[in-house]
Amino acid sequence: MTDGTVTRVEPAGSLVGHIAVPGDKSISHRALLIGALTEGETRVHDFGRSGDTESTLAAVRALGVRVDEEADDELVVHGVGLRGLRAPAEPIDAGNAGTLLRLLTGILAAQPGTYELTGDESLRSRPMDRVAEPLTRMGARITTTDGRAPLTIEGSDALRGIDYKLPVASAQVKSALLLAGLNAQGTTTVVEPVQTRDHTELMLEAAGASVRRRPSSVSVEPAGRLRLDEVVVPGDFSAAAPFVVAATLLAGSELTIHDVGLNPRRIGLLDVLERMGARISVFNRRKLGGEWIGDLDVRSAELTGAEITPEEVPQLVDELPLFALAAALSRGESRVRGAGELRVKETDRIESVTNALKALGVRIRASDDGFGVRGVPSRPYGGKMSSDGDHRIAMVGAIAGLVSREGVDVGDADAAAISFPGFFDVLDSVSRR
Ligand code: S3P
Repeated sequence: MTDGTVTRVEPAGSLVGHIAVPGDKSISHRALLIGALTEGETRVHDFGRSGDTESTLAAVRALGVRVDEEADDELVVHGVGLRGLRAPAEPIDAGNAGTLLRLLTGILAAQPGTYELTGDESLRSRPMDRVAEPLTRMGARITTTDGRAPLTIEGSDALRGIDYKLPVASAQVKSALLLAGLNAQGTTTVVEPVQTRDHTELMLEAAGASVRRRPSSVSVEPAGRLRLDEVVVPGDFSAAAPFVVAATLLAGSELTIHDVGLNPRRIGLLDVLERMGARISVFNRRKLGGEWIGDLDVRSAELTGAEITPEEVPQLVDELPLFALAAALSRGESRVRGAGELRVKETDRIESVTNALKALGVRIRASDDGFGVRGVPSRPYGGKMSSDGDHRIAMVGAIAGLVSREGVDVGDADAAAISFPGFFDVLDSVSRR
């Protein structure tokens, strides 16, 4: 998605104030998809509206699920049961949303009918064989286009549970298999090389599915019926992360971010920033429907560089481009290894973040599976960069503008709306010149 919009972000002195961020994107997708499979109504509070979750809303509706929008962030999903989805005549377009495309493939593998799934240019370039291959082992009938979307799924009522060791750490693949396993015969077990986000497991447990969790694997049994009633979506940690980094880097900042999701498998950035010397406190920490939530208080700090190990990567995979920016303003060298997965995100994020930050005067070097940054604890010059249509890179560009000397022109800035439609307004509301 390249739309040509350029947004100029001027340098800021500090970030001061209180903000909230949209509902978690991962959990919002799951609330709609799992809600669709339940019996009865699921009320979704604080739904995170964004380009990606609009795609999921449209997809479940196309599959015959009624969803009432009682407010912008308050939805009621009328579940159709575990095998009650209806095949639409038209292909389902997942837009830019990898989570939607992969989770839905797992769900549709066991629904009656034939389904076609596609997405935008970025999504059609991303690997889908990683879900098609294990689902086929379960007995699913899936045809891909050279391992990518568009794909065709001929639903089957004869899926069998398998034991599957994930070749790459991916919550999307794990979730696709667990969702298929709800309608399979026997147990479906997914073994993870490294723990990834567990929102699917938590929500399935809340819906009454039989889920067994061990430190490095998870199993699901075929389900009789699911019932969710209510999902309260925490604020998206990945949407809070740009503000956490900006407030840390800008001297004199005092920023509070309320009601942020603090699932331990999502907040690796906090641990890494803490190692670098950041001053972030968590308060009002509480559990809401199986998910941790709390408020973050961020004060500015001087950072030193850090190394991120392959084992840590899944806990901050979507925040690694922001880490690159934090590293650029830290004292000393930083390095990320074992993050080859970045090459198959919305863009090749090793390339896109390297190109973007280099253009602004940052000393960053790409490697096969990560990058290295030579930090300088002063403001980078600034200039022009492009998001390449990638929402996370657009937000990195904006934060780079705040912490720069001369400001940054963020090309394709509108991409931010894929996960955070009001991003630039919220940024403006707390930026002090
Ligand atoms: C997601 C999982 C991650 C992440 C993506 C959302 C999810 O992808 O990068 O933004 O909601 O399950 P992978 O599981 O493919 O690493």
